[in-house]
Amino acid sequence: MSTFNAPKGIPEYYPPRSAAFLAVRETLAEAVRRAGYGYIELPIFEDTTLFARGVGESTDVVSKEMYTFADRGGRSVTLRPEGTAGVVRSVIEHGLDRGQLPVKLCYAGPFFRYERPQAGRYRQLQQLGVEAIGVDDPALDAEVIAIADAGFRALGLTGYRLEITSLGDATCRPGYRERLQEFLRDLPLDTETRARAELNPLRVLDDKRPAVREMLTDAPLMVDHLSAECRENYEQVKGFLNDLGVKFTENPRLVRGLDYYTKTTFEFVHDGLGAQSGIGGGGRYDGLMAELGGQPLSGVGFGLGLDRILLACEAEGLMVGDEARCQVFCVPLGEVAKARLVAVAGELRAAGVRVDLAYGGKGLKGAMKAADRSGARYALVLGDRDLDAGAVQLKELASGEQRTVALEGVVTAVREALGR
Ligand code: HAM
Repeated sequence: MSTFNAPKGIPEYYPPRSAAFLAVRETLAEAVRRAGYGYIELPIFEDTTLFARGVGESTDVVSKEMYTFADRGGRSVTLRPEGTAGVVRSVIEHGLDRGQLPVKLCYAGPFFRYERPQAGRYRQLQQLGVEAIGVDDPALDAEVIAIADAGFRALGLTGYRLEITSLGDATCRPGYRERLQEFLRDLPLDTETRARAELNPLRVLDDKRPAVREMLTDAPLMVDHLSAECRENYEQVKGFLNDLGVKFTENPRLVRGLDYYTKTTFEFVHDGLGAQSGIGGGGRYDGLMAELGGQPLSGVGFGLGLDRILLACEAEGLMVGDEARCQVFCVPLGEVAKARLVAVAGELRAAGVRVDLAYGGKGLKGAMKAADRSGARYALVLGDRDLDAGAVQLKELASGEQRTVALEGVVTAVREALGR
């Protein structure tokens, strides 16, 4: 046991696994860039009221899971539990919605939720998210969903599915909510569930207990009570998903943990992860921007859980980001050789080659072992005799094949050997 440990429930990424983490994020980010989203870097903490109002007081995220504290000026601030509220706040604050719409933004980084830690459920979680704000077009909902799907496919993932539904809007949801509450009031539910039914009845539909599930078999479903407009909107989203070749299943009981959703909502679920199977989710939010003091513009977006996506890649045995940490490993034998190889390493790096060197005066055996471990394809071995001859040994580590190249032209020789 070391003297200090990281706080509980926080995954740390260090080599070699951190390379896979970065590759996951980068692959997904590339899918996002292909759809024209610009990057936004947001504060890690915000005014507590932003989340209370934006995400919803009745959600578990706000009522039980926020890292909230008073700063030294006595203001209540909260480590961001999610990204959408912050993006919308920033769009309003900087007037980003006064130009071309939709405003298409993407972000990535850590988010904080005081949850009970377990495999795939962390207190510091990493997300990559997008938000497209200002245009209510079902084709845009489909685009957002298709980006995530393309990103997952680019990683090589196959064991996931997409679930979608429509949560209606301000015209049809209140009526449905009442209908659901009436239905729930007639059930022999425990006190806590009863309280939840009054506060947030849709959440009850998400109850995992078999006995409760059984009681909910005939519960009214939002999809059966959509306004004509919301129904048409939902049909169009599905149509565009088909046009994009994105497969989905409809789950009319899909419940999200955040309150701002309207109309299209979705979740990507991976089957290889056990209980924490949601690898990403999102949807449309009609009222959020106005709720936070902006124009009444609608938005749509997703948050992808990078920690879980990495676990999903590992569960499927995918090698993501297995690029070796360096391509060439320099092995100097003696001080003069070291000075020369230090310079060569610098030149190679300037030429775009990833290079490491055996530091600490290792002998040939130890240095070659380090070269093997580095994952490099080639070692450059420089001894006294080579130095006198103005040459260096270029050794292919996998085959053991070795040839002598002139020190003068070593950068060109290495680049040719690497095929660049
Ligand atoms: P969310 O569903 O709360 O949505 O989170 C998105 C994803 O983050 C989840 O699907 C999951 O993969 C990951 N995630 C959430 N909590 C944890 C945790 N404790 N440990 C590990 N991974 C976790 C949002 O946050 C919305 N802001 C998404 C959105 C953007 N909706 C519209 N725009």
